[in-house]
Amino acid sequence: MAVDPASPPLVVGIGGTIGGISSTERALRIALDAAEREGFHTRMFGGADMARLPLYDPRATTRTADEQAFVAAVREASAVIIASPGYHGSISGVVKNALDLLEETAKDDRPYLADMPVGLIATAYGWQATGSTIAALRSIVHALRGWPTPFAAAINTQVTKFDAEGGASDPAVVEQLSMIGRQVARFAPLVAAS
Ligand SMILES: Cc1cc2nc3c(=O)[nH]c(=O)nc-3n(C[C@H](O)[C@H](O)[C@H](O)COP(=O)(O)O)c2cc1C
Repeated sequence: MAVDPASPPLVVGIGGTIGGISSTERALRIALDAAEREGFHTRMFGGADMARLPLYDPRATTRTADEQAFVAAVREASAVIIASPGYHGSISGVVKNALDLLEETAKDDRPYLADMPVGLIATAYGWQATGSTIAALRSIVHALRGWPTPFAAAINTQVTKFDAEGGASDPAVVEQLSMIGRQVARFAPLVAAS
């Protein structure tokens, strides 16, 4: 099913790390670029964006402008791609804090990530944490009622290096990340039409 070029649906990317150049964020950008080539509009919430989100307080009576912008983007999205580093065998606190904020959508007609394809990316400095981080992300997406897409990218940043131009030392990794963008794009219009 083709997307309408006059109003391209939105793919929101959530991921990265804080404090400097992030291979996780660069990996996410490659996947989002692939979705853009399929005609989608994209918006990325990277490390610097997630760092501005306060620790999620479910009882807070007001939300910051950054919190509101994040929730509004996910509400508007037709698909999401999440990229986390493996921190001590699981997803990072920064990424989890952003995902916790989606509790604000609990009472929406479409709560959380319901009915959305969700692409998943994990980086780690070794292989072991890539698998456990992908598994954790899949569990979280299921809890949020999203649909993890079939292929998830597990990237060992000890061996694969990313550059600022959207490339990586291993072309196979670039292809894997692009596949995530394409799989999300393939499924999102079908969901929106149902
Ligand atoms: C707090 C912390 C915990 C980490 N835990 C693991 C780990 O358990 N296994 C692993 O392989 N790498 C671990 N790493 C390494 C990161 O997962 C890895 O360097 C990742 O690619 C960083 O992504 P970035 O370049 O986007 O910052 C850890 C790094 C930090 C800072």
